Amino acid sequence: MRRGVILLVLLLFAILAFSIHTVWNLLMLLVIDGSEDAISKSELPAPGSSRVNGRPQLIPKIIHQTYINESIPPVWQDAQQSCLDLHRPEDGWEYKLWTDDKMSEFIRDEYPWFVDTFEGYPYPIQRADAIRYFVLCHYGGIYIDLDDGCNRALEPLLSYPAWVRKTIPTGISNDAMGAVPGHCFFMRVIDELKHYDRNWLLGYITVMGSTGPLFLSVIWRRYSSEGLNEGDGRLRILWSEEYQGFSWSFFTHHLGNSWHGADVEFIFWMARNWVFLTILGFTIGGGIIFFIWWAYRRFVLKKAPSDIPKWKTASIRSRFPFWRRASAQKEYELVSRHEV
Ligand SMILES: *[C@@H]1O[C@H](CO)[C@@H](O)[C@H](O)[C@H]1NC(C)=O
Repeated sequence: MRRGVILLVLLLFAILAFSIHTVWNLLMLLVIDGSEDAISKSELPAPGSSRVNGRPQLIPKIIHQTYINESIPPVWQDAQQSCLDLHRPEDGWEYKLWTDDKMSEFIRDEYPWFVDTFEGYPYPIQRADAIRYFVLCHYGGIYIDLDDGCNRALEPLLSYPAWVRKTIPTGISNDAMGAVPGHCFFMRVIDELKHYDRNWLLGYITVMGSTGPLFLSVIWRRYSSEGLNEGDGRLRILWSEEYQGFSWSFFTHHLGNSWHGADVEFIFWMARNWVFLTILGFTIGGGIIFFIWWAYRRFVLKKAPSDIPKWKTASIRSRFPFWRRASAQKEYELVSRHEV
């Protein structure tokens, strides 16, 4: 019987360890904000500054964007134009718009091992997510979401081998990113895409976790915890004030998240009610453990209480210190009475 208890405890412990292991990178996102890799304010010249930028420009002058086809909807045309105006071909900039047809052709030609996953994605936004990692690996450059406009020229950001932007409260996003071709962070990202191609029932979670910001954040944590986030492999983080909202920010926000559906309401509802949901989670978890415990006592420890002599149940109980202390007096009486 004692062995049974130890097995039960070991089983519960294994389940707990497995659960923590599974969500470890998510838990780390709550603790680590990436500030050690932040692009500091002092590194960046003000827009139009007379400060001479002596730093080498590593990232190629290419801007990548994605849309279904060439006809960009009017709501995003201003944003797109603001980036085109600040990064002209005569200054060496190239502009690549990745339409659905061009994406598919590019993946077929350059990454044939990914075609099945790419074509198999149930949501078009997953293809739009994935393609940006592949083009950054292949060509390098800066990817910008269509709903992000440019507030100033992006030249200062060309001096880092790779950068992404921080999201509040945690993690990183994939709506504006830059990298040299073949940067090892983005190589890692495209290698992992296949393993994260899972369906999480809710469209929003599936997209976030398989190709979107959550996926990128988890890979970022794994990449860092393996000690790869240093030297040329270091991924720098654009902080929110440098991202948008201030005169010195690089980007402006227009109108976004066009692909969000009803499930997003549900996620936001969960975020608003996280205290309640946490308590609910612990209550359910505690209830399950209690049920296992109860079932164990009911069906393993004693088949049918009436078949077992009273002194025996008493001695079984006395093996659990928790009970022994509570009812010590009574048990000794029972035991001694039968032993006489
Ligand atoms: C581009 O895609 C949009 C949205 O699906 C569609 O309404 C439009 O007709 C397409 N334009 C062309 C030129 O195919």
